[in-house]
Amino acid sequence: MSDVSQRVDPAQLQKFSKNVSGSVVGGLNCALSFVGEQLGLYTALAQIGPANSESLAQKTNLSERWVREWLYQQACIGQIEYTEETDSFYLSPEARLVLAEPDHPAYLGGMLQSVVAMFETVDTLPGAFRSGIGQSFDDKGENCACGIERMSKKFQSSYLVPRLLPALDQVIEKLEHGARVADVGCGAATSTIAMAKAFPNSEFTGYDISLNALGRARTNIQNAGINNVRLANAIDNPLPEDSSIDFITTFDVVHDSTHPALLIDAIRQSLKTDGTWLCADIKGRPSFAENLRENPTATLAYSFSVMVCMSAGLSVPGGAGLGTLGFHEQKAREMTGAAGFSRFRTIDYEGDIFNAFYEIRP
Ligand SMILES: C[S@@+](CC[C@H](N)C(=O)[O-])C[C@H]1O[C@@H](n2cnc3c(N)ncnc32)[C@H](O)[C@@H]1O
Repeated sequence: MSDVSQRVDPAQLQKFSKNVSGSVVGGLNCALSFVGEQLGLYTALAQIGPANSESLAQKTNLSERWVREWLYQQACIGQIEYTEETDSFYLSPEARLVLAEPDHPAYLGGMLQSVVAMFETVDTLPGAFRSGIGQSFDDKGENCACGIERMSKKFQSSYLVPRLLPALDQVIEKLEHGARVADVGCGAATSTIAMAKAFPNSEFTGYDISLNALGRARTNIQNAGINNVRLANAIDNPLPEDSSIDFITTFDVVHDSTHPALLIDAIRQSLKTDGTWLCADIKGRPSFAENLRENPTATLAYSFSVMVCMSAGLSVPGGAGLGTLGFHEQKAREMTGAAGFSRFRTIDYEGDIFNAFYEIRP
């Protein structure tokens, strides 16, 4: 022990402690930002402009003392601006987009919600490390499904129909004419609804295995007022493996699935011979060393992986547990080739920092 302490560089120790403290503050800030988001504090501040704690508390009908301390914390971490002369707080234009505009692609409220939902299940992690068995999406609770829904919706509503589908070979023509579509691992059906609204002649089925997600999907479909979407619980009602589907989509599903090879096989068997699978999955590199060196989202991805994605992929004995970065392009090429797909093209779309998009065909 004393040998180790003799080799400690005090400057490095200070730097290291500062880094860890920063992460601790990040955890606290996540919870406090989520509370602020849920209470409408950011949107209220965006509406009333520079404000002190009294006027923000009045606007939100909250206790001034609590609002004041929250504002101090938010100003210290740099999410809310403070003007000393007027003792007032305001959101910068950038902070408004990230914290107060739920429909903007830069909005991070959904991510805050899913991270806070993960905190609720921290107690289960030591057991998972011992047994090797993780938690399914439903074990993570409704907040996790809801957070994922909010993260996905803003991306899918802004890029899927206008940007991604036109990049696929002949898919738009088929959808306009009337196609059979399966959105596998549809979650809350945000992608299914965006496509179904744009292509009323086509029939869409959203498949999922999470009851929370299917519940959210049912409500969202009703609210959307569309009648060309049905839902299926993939456990009792799996993909029809009869070459009858024109177009299949998976948005961040394969890396989460317990048996990705079986899922890819089922997709292959369900697609018509001239069909297309649009697969979105997390951008990763083939090795940890490459992710560490080159992947700007690696820290976030590995954190999500232990808490959610790898855990879901290991939620049954024998689960693959690919992990958040585990279905990278090289792996996707290998696994789809093994399932009998012969064409694989990476879509050139840089608008999503997390996902890569592949057009995969029999
Ligand atoms: C990260 S979520 C993505 C949900 C949705 N696609 C989105 O973009 O918001 C992954 C979803 O895949 C579902 N899933 C995992 N394995 C599946 C399988 N074999 N069949 C159908 N759904 C599956 C999970 O229940 C979960 O809802």
